[in-house]
Amino acid sequence: MKLALVSTLVLATSAALCASAYQTLLSNKDLLACYDFTSLYSDPTSAVTDPEKYESQFLDQFCTNPSCSADVFNKAFTPVVSACGADTYGGAIADIIVRFYGPIKGASCLKNSTGGYCIIESTEKLTPYENANSVNDIPASVLCTTCNKAFVGISQAIVQQNAAYLTALGFDKSAYDAQIALISSKCGADFTTPTSLSNDNTSNYRRT
Ligand SMILES: *[C@@H]1O[C@H](CO)[C@@H](O)[C@H](O)[C@H]1NC(C)=O
Ligand SMILES: *[C@@H]1O[C@H](CO)[C@@H](O)[C@H](O)[C@H]1NC(C)=O
Repeated sequence: MKLALVSTLVLATSAALCASAYQTLLSNKDLLACYDFTSLYSDPTSAVTDPEKYESQFLDQFCTNPSCSADVFNKAFTPVVSACGADTYGGAIADIIVRFYGPIKGASCLKNSTGGYCIIESTEKLTPYENANSVNDIPASVLCTTCNKAFVGISQAIVQQNAAYLTALGFDKSAYDAQIALISSKCGADFTTPTSLSNDNTSNYRRT
């Protein structure tokens, strides 16, 4: 559910997988102009003491900086896909960043009615239920929110338009569809309608 690029980048850069290809990202000037993610390591205490503020600051920079364009990510991550192989874990993450940059950025930058990031709101609300086996175990008041509706709509569009690709990566479409059916019955059929994804993957793709 959580599509935060920060965790993807941390995961990607800290894992040993395809390490040397990922190393090149740390010196990619265009990527650093978008977000200097090497600074993630410079002040690790703030990430621990106030993770919400830290993540919010990261998103502010990522979502509003015009340098964070699809083209920059495409040029940076396409060689990583080649180096790792698209069928490896590290390669698949890079491939997903290249293919789904627009929707990933769109989902990461969504804001709620009080101006907070949806990704933070949903994470906070869903954390007590992180061990739930089914969406049936999550109360409607937590599940059927405006933010989650937006995430589900983006997810539905990605899955419907890329089913073969995702299945090849090991994605379990029937398990996904079963959860979507449960979400529909809990939150209403309208809740799981696919969003039309913006083709403009160079814009900030910011919605409120
Ligand atoms: C997004 O941008 C990349 C180049 O940066 C391009 O190859 C791709 O076709 C674009 N996707 C869409 C949906 O326009
Ligand atoms: C909006 O999101 C922030 C976190 O980003 C959260 O603290 C706040 O409670 C949310 N507002 C609503 C109305 O849920």
